[in-house]
Amino acid sequence: MNPNPKYDLVVIGAGAAGLMCAGLAAKKDIKTLIIDHNPKPGRKIIISGGGRCNFTNLNIQPDRYLSQNPRFCISALKRYTQHDFIKLVKSHSLTFHEKTLGQLFCDQKSHAILAILQEECRSKHVDTHYQCEVSEVRKLDNGFELTTSNGKVFTQKLVIASGGLSMPKIGATNFAYKIAKQFELNLIPTRPGLVPFTLSGEKLELAKSLAGVAIEAKVSLNKKTSFRENILFTHRGISGPAILQISSYWQESQPVFFNFLPDENPEEFINELRKTRAKENLDQVLKSYLPKKFIELFLRAPQKPMAQLSKVEINKIKEMLFQCSITPSGTEGYRTAEVTLGGLDTRELSSKSMEVQKVPGLYFIGESVDVTGWLGGYNFQWAWSSASACIENI
Ligand code: FDA
Repeated sequence: MNPNPKYDLVVIGAGAAGLMCAGLAAKKDIKTLIIDHNPKPGRKIIISGGGRCNFTNLNIQPDRYLSQNPRFCISALKRYTQHDFIKLVKSHSLTFHEKTLGQLFCDQKSHAILAILQEECRSKHVDTHYQCEVSEVRKLDNGFELTTSNGKVFTQKLVIASGGLSMPKIGATNFAYKIAKQFELNLIPTRPGLVPFTLSGEKLELAKSLAGVAIEAKVSLNKKTSFRENILFTHRGISGPAILQISSYWQESQPVFFNFLPDENPEEFINELRKTRAKENLDQVLKSYLPKKFIELFLRAPQKPMAQLSKVEINKIKEMLFQCSITPSGTEGYRTAEVTLGGLDTRELSSKSMEVQKVPGLYFIGESVDVTGWLGGYNFQWAWSSASACIENI
């Protein structure tokens, strides 16, 4: 005979999605336990947004999420929107500002967002087991039995909110994927997303010599996929928001194209300069548009007046400035990736409740699922929305 469940709900993972889930469960007086193997909750929240947590985005749209099943996220994002989370933030008297492109950051440190989530969880109905390992999950007729380092726990419903593989040094594990395999659920292959590119050979040496130089550029893979934001040269290759964004779409060995003067028309730009600044060298002229070090080390323009440049030289310069192709040797991997692409195949889940269709009572939320947002608050919004969808239906 099965023992009586002790909890109505156990949430594994006290990150963004898990804490949101437990907080919403508390409001419904659902007897909940939240478990994390880290000694403290929300480590990613604390380091997010450069310490100021970019907690959502004003421009949340489903087409800014990558998934093998792109329509899956629509329902949850519609039912718990960025405005719902903003309302929660305001109700705790937290102030915030829009940085750029709809990205909302706390005025305070990101601890403030974590404090809100913890405050929401504060209830006689919510227990926490931190620094607690879950070694086994067993399906019973009326729920689940968990074997943990704190002993056995019984629950009617189980939410997997243990995230993806990015940043193992702060606690990321493959726990969610192990549970998926145990219940014979399909997984979409994972790879690091929102991650800097690495370079090799001559290009790496060049990047090293330019480390710290930032330029606003339009970075593209093809006509459909491009981002215009800063790029940043590093000691390993290239980073910056435009690179992180494009990295989620990048496939190995694929060239990446850079337009370093995205406001200019290539033909008109060069022709105009050849007319108006004919006697000056190109590097002199470009100093009004691009950093000096980048012009000297990267473009290495011929040292002669604009008017004397040959057709071949002009075409080469145009290519370097407007359609420069660089093939990364790889990415920095999960060590520095902000997110994990892939994960639990959403076709296994109900988009209404995040419940596994063939295992009633089992739910997956947040980054463990194959839904990955753009840089800029999109991933936290998915954590809030997927957690809300889950609790709305429990
Ligand atoms: P999350 O990773 O937050 O939480 C998972 C929890 O499960 C962790 O507490 C972990 O310890 C626990 N866990 C893992 N394995 C376990 C196991 N075996 N047993 C028990 N517990 C286990 N997004 C955004 O929208 N705005 C931003 O500003 C940023 N900034 C940012 C910076 C950096 C450096 C990173 C790495 C990531 C971001 N992100 C972001 C992405 C964002 O942090 C991420 O998408 C969410 O935290 C995902 O929330 P989850 O709750 O799904 O996983």
